[in-house]
Amino acid sequence: MSAAASTILEGIRRNASSGFDVEEVRRDFPILGEKVRGKPLVYLDNAATTQKPRVVIERLDGYYRTENANIHRGIHFLSERATQAYEEARATVARFLGAADAREIVFVRGTTEGINLVAQSYGRKFIGEGDEIVVSAMEHHSNIVPWQILREQVGAGLRVIPMNDHGELLVDEYERLFSDQTKLVAVTHLSNALGTINPVGEIIQIAHRHGVPVLVDGAQAAPHLRVDVREIDCDFYAFSGHKLYGPTGVGVLYGKASLLDAMPPYQGGGDMISSVTFEKTLYNVLPYKFEAGTPNIAGAIGLGAAIDYLSKVRLDLVAAHERELLAYATEAVSAIKGVRIIGTAREKAAVLSFVLDGVHAHDVGTILDQDGIAIRAGHHCAMPVMERFGVPATARASLGLYNTREEVDALVGAIEKVKRVFGR
Ligand code: ALA
Repeated sequence: MSAAASTILEGIRRNASSGFDVEEVRRDFPILGEKVRGKPLVYLDNAATTQKPRVVIERLDGYYRTENANIHRGIHFLSERATQAYEEARATVARFLGAADAREIVFVRGTTEGINLVAQSYGRKFIGEGDEIVVSAMEHHSNIVPWQILREQVGAGLRVIPMNDHGELLVDEYERLFSDQTKLVAVTHLSNALGTINPVGEIIQIAHRHGVPVLVDGAQAAPHLRVDVREIDCDFYAFSGHKLYGPTGVGVLYGKASLLDAMPPYQGGGDMISSVTFEKTLYNVLPYKFEAGTPNIAGAIGLGAAIDYLSKVRLDLVAAHERELLAYATEAVSAIKGVRIIGTAREKAAVLSFVLDGVHAHDVGTILDQDGIAIRAGHHCAMPVMERFGVPATARASLGLYNTREEVDALVGAIEKVKRVFGR
């Protein structure tokens, strides 16, 4: 690149991330002040889980200290207060996703449970023998195995959208997979193993032309991209709280009300009924029909706080910061001799997967850990992706809003150290 071009690029980058002060953001996350093995923590495992800002930690603490009670049941002060906080969190999630109605927001344990809910409720009712479910070649196991379980139960088949060597889905081939038997498409918005951002709007449009609903696995996308479920017109969207700077054990399934209404409950128990006799049970209205038992009340409230935090720092600025950082990291890591980046799609976010010649990814991860650098190494719960790229595992650095260029430099230095250790 010429000096002039790189000056222009730098200017664009600076503008794109103006208003976003990463050092200020870092001060919001207590754990980032920790030392790991005597070194400052460099946390680059955000696709696995994110660290939590003080406001989320304090919200959880405050809930348990001053508001804890069961919801929807009690007539006492605390129960009303907890119910209100829980339902406010639902409204916050609805706004965050651009949903038409908070009734379309079901709190679940995480993305995995959201997908299993759709497979077991929608799937068992509307998918039968000989029908087909379309998934993509880059799915996480949580968007493969629930469909395989359903396949065994009802005798349906699975079709797979292929991808190219960059890790981009082949949309033309996708269109050819449809037949009268196609009953559902389930696809990731952002690949956890490759970082590819899929054109979900187009994927959904094509499916809808064939009258087929689409579930989007948004576990990785929700923390990095603005999602508007009505704009992309998805039928289901699932994401996890813990990848979005919120607590573990809570997540969200968005579903269009018309679909959720037509679906049977996923689990039976308290709160999901309107009346029970031994002869017959009538189910509760949306979304409670899908929230049997005492839910993760604190988790949902903590997730609401995490979304409020992200809205305050502004997701568009976060996205610009992460885009700039991913470009910087991609350039720096691919310049290391012996490194091959796995996942080179044009549209990417937050994930840098790579292999190092002659060194297993686990060894890369272990040596980086000695320097306080946390990455993930392995198959990333996406074994078919590893097979597609002919590697047993990758090392994966994944970015969050608090990561910096200095941390990327530390990563690069540590990879060079791995090479020295292995005489490469
Ligand atoms: N799905 C998470 C990851 O990609 C755990 O690491």
